[in-house]
Amino acid sequence: MADKTTYRLALIGFGAVGQGLAQILRYHSDWLARRYGVGLQIAAVCTRSHGNLYDPEGLDPAILLEEVARVGHLRDLPALTDRDAFDIIERIEADVLVEVSPTNLETAEPATSYIRAAIARGMHVVTANKGPIALRFADLRRQAMDAGVYLGFEGTVMSGTPALRLAWSDLAGCEVIELSGIVNGTTNYILTQMEQGKSYADALAEAQTLGYAEADPAGDVEGHDAAAKALILANIVMDAPLGMSDVDRTGITGLTRDMIEAAVASSERWKLLARVWREGEQVRASVLPTRLPLSHPLASVGGVTNAITFTTDLLGDITLIGPGAGGVATGFAVLSDILAMHLLWARA
Ligand SMILES: NC(=O)c1ccc[n+]([C@@H]2O[C@H](COP(=O)([O-])OP(=O)(O)OC[C@H]3O[C@@H](n4cnc5c(N)ncnc54)[C@H](OP(=O)(O)O)[C@@H]3O)[C@@H](O)[C@H]2O)c1
Repeated sequence: MADKTTYRLALIGFGAVGQGLAQILRYHSDWLARRYGVGLQIAAVCTRSHGNLYDPEGLDPAILLEEVARVGHLRDLPALTDRDAFDIIERIEADVLVEVSPTNLETAEPATSYIRAAIARGMHVVTANKGPIALRFADLRRQAMDAGVYLGFEGTVMSGTPALRLAWSDLAGCEVIELSGIVNGTTNYILTQMEQGKSYADALAEAQTLGYAEADPAGDVEGHDAAAKALILANIVMDAPLGMSDVDRTGITGLTRDMIEAAVASSERWKLLARVWREGEQVRASVLPTRLPLSHPLASVGGVTNAITFTTDLLGDITLIGPGAGGVATGFAVLSDILAMHLLWARA
């Protein structure tokens, strides 16, 4: 491609996902320019306590990554600024807000306010943050449409594995009647380990050691994370604006080794299933530990891997299996949204 369109990115958050995106840009920028005619330049980076940077000429992803690896923060780099995240969003010249700050499933803040501020300035937004999309999707979509900007959120479910895009784009024309999925890798890892003989406490401790589970694991093991993803799927795939209180939710903390063994003895396996389904005029959602026969496509999905089966009217069942987390995998989700946006805008 001869002409290159360059997008200046403002990254809010430079943890696993922000750094995953930087890794991709570090090694794939030339190829992205050749293959898609896209240049991606990091104009700004914001963190909570590790320093904020702004350089209108662009920040080098290699330098950002090496600095974090070397000293654990960004505060010694020459582009350091005392502007806060709102100041950066409201004043700098950038084309895309990449919102990858931590998820808050009670208030969806401050991410929702960052996203609103960016849209108000006419910036496109790509996020992997479940809070704003699970809790504020209808408003944000309306605001983005009114402003004529792109709102991408592929990374909110199954990270880089294109679950949302498969359902609303590739399956367009099919009606999804029901979907059920393993959308939380931490709980799936714990259940897989319990089946191999570990107690719940040992399996959780191992998941924490490996970085799969937070020090406070409630968001995963009580099913809140999976419930947020069920809401996003209900919103995007079934056009049903459900709220958290509409999800019938039970986590995995009540599952014992005896229950796991009893399932195995019956050629079954416990999985924490997120389900969204049509019931008459209504759409219902649940997150529940469920015994699946070993012949079920989701039963063989072990460890931190995620999977969703979409039941459609025209194609029957389609099952998508892939990574559900990881810095580079979710950084790829951000990249895939930016490329989708670019292709959409290039065609318009
Ligand atoms: N990691 C994954 O595999 C994955 C997968 C799918 C979706 N996601 C979602 O992607 C988002 C980012 O995840 P992550 O794993 O990269 O998180 P992370 O490693 O905890 O990094 C979060 C980043 O956001 C910064 N931050 C914290 N509070 C902030 C605030 N109020 N304003 C601006 N920046 C703030 C942090 O700065 P400090 O370091 O200074 O605190 C850090 O740079 C989350 O919403 C997560 O749910 C993650």
